[in-house]
Amino acid sequence: MRLLLAGGSGQIGQLLARAFTHEGHTVVALGRSSGGVLWDAATLGPWCRELERCDVLINLAGRSVNCRYTAHNRSEILRSRVDSTRVLGEAIAQVAHPPRVWLQASTATIYAHRYDAPNDERSGLLGGSETGVPASWHFGSEVGQAWERALDRAPTPRTRKLALRLGMVMSPDRGGIFEVLLGLVRRGLGGRWGDGRQYLSWLHHADLVRALRWLIEHEEVRGAVNLSAPEPLPQAQFMRELRLAWGARVGLPATKWMLELGALCMRTETELVLKSRRVVPGRLLEAGFVFEQPSWSGAAHELCESWRSARGAPA
Ligand SMILES: NC(=O)c1ccc[n+]([C@@H]2O[C@H](COP(=O)([O-])OP(=O)(O)OC[C@H]3O[C@@H](n4cnc5c(N)ncnc54)[C@H](OP(=O)(O)O)[C@@H]3O)[C@@H](O)[C@H]2O)c1
Repeated sequence: MRLLLAGGSGQIGQLLARAFTHEGHTVVALGRSSGGVLWDAATLGPWCRELERCDVLINLAGRSVNCRYTAHNRSEILRSRVDSTRVLGEAIAQVAHPPRVWLQASTATIYAHRYDAPNDERSGLLGGSETGVPASWHFGSEVGQAWERALDRAPTPRTRKLALRLGMVMSPDRGGIFEVLLGLVRRGLGGRWGDGRQYLSWLHHADLVRALRWLIEHEEVRGAVNLSAPEPLPQAQFMRELRLAWGARVGLPATKWMLELGALCMRTETELVLKSRRVVPGRLLEAGFVFEQPSWSGAAHELCESWRSARGAPA
């Protein structure tokens, strides 16, 4: 199988490239600088020929959301996702032999901030109009919806389309979300954030690869699919499990104002840690997909072990 990864140089792209190459597939990256086939993620060009040759397209392109939500950054976050999705649709419509499936990154943040019930694809509430939350918390949901609209509008009758509503992908790789969280735990800072009730939706990297393979194979599945482990959990509990897995005794809590100050210094947003993302993989579970790492406790142990052995750290 030949896979084309648009935005393939990032965290998820690199781990998918490693996994699929290891299985004997051919992986080609589409990126804005060297290391693969060049594109600008907005206009048609010679890169379109790559679509003729691939079986599967996975689009991961988008400016990182880990930044201050200034007007400029918001526009970049939105534009990079909508434009890249739109132009891939245009390219697929033009080529003679398009890929049979297009897996498009979307986000678990598309759902509303809530504690009361999990969001699955059928009954989940999309965000953007919740009351009692800062306006900046609506932004992620609005981006997710615009992203998926761009995918829906793409006229690709010969290519099956899937929107992947991704939770936080946990891998032991350098610079990934897991390493950031573990870094806090190792410094004694992995405690409760705010009231700690906000849910975290996460997914072990091995299950990401397995789920994508499953979605590629199951031709009857199309549309939006939640890609997160079946057991999201409140932040305080999530960090407790990570401390236990690592063997950390202390995890200092951080109040909202401390987080605001920290986010300002680190040029990021508290929305990323305080908004409740309670997402469950309804469609995957209904279809019989079995997660290798369904619970955070087990996944956290495995990730800590892999992180230690990759860096030669003592157990
Ligand atoms: N990682 C997660 O846990 C997670 C969770 C939910 C959703 N997602 C979504 O899944 C996608 C992939 O995640 P990731 O963690 O791999 O992201 P990432 O590490 O930030 O990589 C995304 C890639 O997008 C490209 N890119 C960056 N800025 C761009 C811009 N202004 N215009 C066009 N392309 C740009 C870059 O590739 P080039 O520089 O090579 O062009 C980059 O390697 C993202 O869209 C992200 O929002 C990720």
